[in-house]
Amino acid sequence: MFALRLASLFLLSTTFVSASPAPAADFTAVEKRQVSTASIETVFTTLQSSTNSTLPQITALVSGGNATDATVTPLIDDLTSALDTATASLAALPISLKRQTDDDIATLVAGIITDITNALDSLLGTASTIPALGTLLGGVDTSLNQVLLGLEILLAGVLSLVANLLTDVAGLLEQLAMGLTLGTLGL
Ligand SMILES: *[C@@H]1O[C@H](CO)[C@@H](O)[C@H](O)[C@H]1NC(C)=O
Ligand SMILES: *[C@@H]1O[C@H](CO)[C@@H](O)[C@H](O)[C@H]1NC(C)=O
Repeated sequence: MFALRLASLFLLSTTFVSASPAPAADFTAVEKRQVSTASIETVFTTLQSSTNSTLPQITALVSGGNATDATVTPLIDDLTSALDTATASLAALPISLKRQTDDDIATLVAGIITDITNALDSLLGTASTIPALGTLLGGVDTSLNQVLLGLEILLAGVLSLVANLLTDVAGLLEQLAMGLTLGTLGL
């Protein structure tokens, strides 16, 4: 199972790297065989700066009554592409030999997932004006799940810490039908 995941991540990373070389380039200076959690943290703060910009635009559409396929789709595309960039960046990091401050990473990741979940949940109230919503949410679930699998490869066991921080959010993830993410987190 682990080997399979690793293989699929490898394929994924090759795909993404050839599609967009930018994310991997940030980590060329990282020493081989020793990844500090700082590098992993950088991947997630980059992701967070992207979600910090995208998610408020989603909730603004909802509160403005302007959430439609046409307005929501580009923002969800931004979100999934930020997640895919994080997956590619994680896959470019060497596997950690030394465990460090997993708690900080878990807190950061759980915070990002909570923000994503809350913003997407606001869309459910206007689902009737967004026929593509189910498909869009499925795409977010797939991309988010890949990020989590990539993180677990680098920091085995960290997902149980993340899951512990998400017990309040699990119900919302279920409403959003984020089955892959829920399964990977064991929620
Ligand atoms: C994202 O927003 C949160 C809450 O405002 C803030 O604590 C965090 O530092 C921001 N992250 C980035 C990378 O800008
Ligand atoms: C929603 O659409 C109305 C009418 O086009 C516009 O005036 C308003 O600024 C929009 N609100 C948002 C949040 O985009």
